Amino acid sequence: MKTKTIFALTAALMLGLTACGAANDSDNANDSSTQTEPNQAVEGSVQDLQDNGENSTESVGNAENTGTGKVLIAYFAVAENSDVDAISSASVTEVSGEAKGLVRTVAEDIQAVTGGDLFSIETSVDYPGDINDLIEYASVEQDNDERPELTSHIENLDEYDTIFVGYPLWWYDLPQVMYSFFDEYDFSGKTIIPFDVHRGSRLSGTPDTIQELELDATVISDGFTVSHETAAAAVSDVAADVEEWLHGLGY
Ligand SMILES: Cc1cc2nc3c(=O)[nH]c(=O)nc-3n(C[C@H](O)[C@H](O)[C@H](O)COP(=O)(O)O)c2cc1C
Repeated sequence: MKTKTIFALTAALMLGLTACGAANDSDNANDSSTQTEPNQAVEGSVQDLQDNGENSTESVGNAENTGTGKVLIAYFAVAENSDVDAISSASVTEVSGEAKGLVRTVAEDIQAVTGGDLFSIETSVDYPGDINDLIEYASVEQDNDERPELTSHIENLDEYDTIFVGYPLWWYDLPQVMYSFFDEYDFSGKTIIPFDVHRGSRLSGTPDTIQELELDATVISDGFTVSHETAAAAVSDVAADVEEWLHGLGY
């Protein structure tokens, strides 16, 4: 079991101390950063988290053969998996007056450019609305390697060639519900393009993890990653960055 310092992570997230420089944050060039043990980075410094993002390595997939075929944009947003009043919840970010979170915002940016279909990954778990409770809940969920039950299902996966997959970075990894997601589907022969929102850890090696879970899919390593601070503060800039990134992928 991994040792975690919940208090330290909570403090870092609440204070926004782990933010990368806002202006260049959604620079996605080859961001498949090295996985870091949670307690290492949590107990380290802001610089540790930034370094984790910047010392990136190219390891899986490439951008060839994207930009064609039918697109699905599957995303996990805690706002759509919690019973709490999203407006008053500290765990859900309000974007342009709507409490929908940042991952969904990026998903919509991707939809605007690709014309793909949006799919919300939903689970029977009612995630805590309070940020401290959510951080602790997610930690236990990860330690137990839980697979939350999915309550939304892709009915027509055969129709899609490319699947954008979006998630908030939780404890330096995919949220456990994403493991449920990859357990449920076989993406063999399809292209998976990851994107995430984080508070300093960037993609934290998640494209490699996805590739391990979907051995016969092509997973694009230079997924889109943006910090919570940048995404919340400059929504239209992020939309422009998403558009530029997608142009680079052939859209
Ligand atoms: C349970 C939990 C764990 C998190 N762990 C990390 C982390 O390890 N590294 C990081 O950079 N950000 C971490 N974050 C920050 C989120 O990735 C970030 O707040 C993101 O914006 C959430 O997306 P949303 O606005 O769509 O909910 C964590 C947030 C939560 C709630």
